[in-house]
Amino acid sequence: MDAAGMQPRRPAGLGVLALLCSSLLLNALFLAHHFVLSPPRLLGRDDGSSSGLSWSLQAAREAEAVAAVDCSGHGQAFLDGVAGEDGRPACECNACFTGPDCSLRAPNCIANASSGNPLFLEPYWRRHAAAGAVVISGWHRMSYTTTDGVYQSVELEDHIRRLHSAVGNAVVDDKHLVFGAGSTQLINALVHALSPDANAASPAARVVATVPYYTPYRTQTAMFDGREYRWDGTTAARGANSSDGFIEFVASPNNPDTLLQKPVLRGSAAIVDRAYYWPHFTHIPAPADEDVMLFTMSKPSGHAGSRLGWALIRDEKVAKRAYEYVQSSIMGASRDTQLRMLGIVKVILANLHGKEDIFAFGHNVMGTRWRRLSAIVSRSQRISVQKMAPEYCTYFQAGQRAIARSIEITELETLFFGGQLTHG
Ligand SMILES: Cc1ncc(COP(=O)(O)O)c(C=O)c1O
Repeated sequence: MDAAGMQPRRPAGLGVLALLCSSLLLNALFLAHHFVLSPPRLLGRDDGSSSGLSWSLQAAREAEAVAAVDCSGHGQAFLDGVAGEDGRPACECNACFTGPDCSLRAPNCIANASSGNPLFLEPYWRRHAAAGAVVISGWHRMSYTTTDGVYQSVELEDHIRRLHSAVGNAVVDDKHLVFGAGSTQLINALVHALSPDANAASPAARVVATVPYYTPYRTQTAMFDGREYRWDGTTAARGANSSDGFIEFVASPNNPDTLLQKPVLRGSAAIVDRAYYWPHFTHIPAPADEDVMLFTMSKPSGHAGSRLGWALIRDEKVAKRAYEYVQSSIMGASRDTQLRMLGIVKVILANLHGKEDIFAFGHNVMGTRWRRLSAIVSRSQRISVQKMAPEYCTYFQAGQRAIARSIEITELETLFFGGQLTHG
């Protein structure tokens, strides 16, 4: 036996066990510190480890980098835009501006007064960049349906209902809500839903509108031309009593003349397009309560590119037919769009009647444009603008002029002002 052999021997397993225990203890302390004791962290540090975020950081950086591209206030770069010479998304210039940074006025730019674009609300969303941003993961709602088997976000529907109630522009409690890819898709979905069944013996429904009307009512009806309905021209050709079997399109406020219209054919099934029935475009005398109403996100928030519209429908059978139409044609509105619009509606709701109220913002911009146009046109001997008396608006609790038409004069400004004034 050697000297070492003389020492009382400790069993070898005991040391390993002690090492294992201390390692476990250290790990437990580390995890407790990381998940329980550390304060919540905020985005904005340089790498994922300091912000508490990991996979969303790169997307956030890309979004902020493209937002910072300088387009002289006359355009914007987008993440999915065409890459410029440096490989990064290049500026896309607004009408009448050109050059790599949109700083040049296009010579002899022709104004297009026949169509509009709700970009007047873009500055609002820049001001609310943080609240209006949404992160979409690579695995966000990949399924055709949502978990409960439907194509519509229950949460978004609930928030849209809250928005109508808070603004006071529509009665929602007794209505079904059907989403579409913009209200443009729902134009035909509603004609289909209100027409007799294609197999029924009844004659085809006759679809009409009063002049001047929003052109897609005619072009869509004529294009789809189902067996169960047909475009039948304007209401002027009908007597007020010959209303059987008619579907009448009514825009209220009307595009193009802003008037709050009502159906003229007594007893016809009416599709009342309320796209502009929001306080930055018109006064709101009372909540709208027609059997079939059409709304869109394109007008209240300005997100025309996201393509979300909805119909409010009293009758369950009609709503079911409209829902089936959307289901058969596109299997429901895009889930990415629904997520984004949920965020947007939440921002609008959170700021109602506050100093960042989107409707007060929009009304202000539109009012300024309308006054500028009126001042220019008042000097002309040949053209004039429509006179509109102020009406009481329940949302602003004040008199208000309808200015929906001025959405379409954005580009006219350039023409009238000869490029001398900047946009306000
Ligand atoms: C009266 C009216 N209804 C419907 C629409 C279509 O809106 P959306 O963007 O939802 O298709 C417009 C668009 O300008 C409109 O003026």
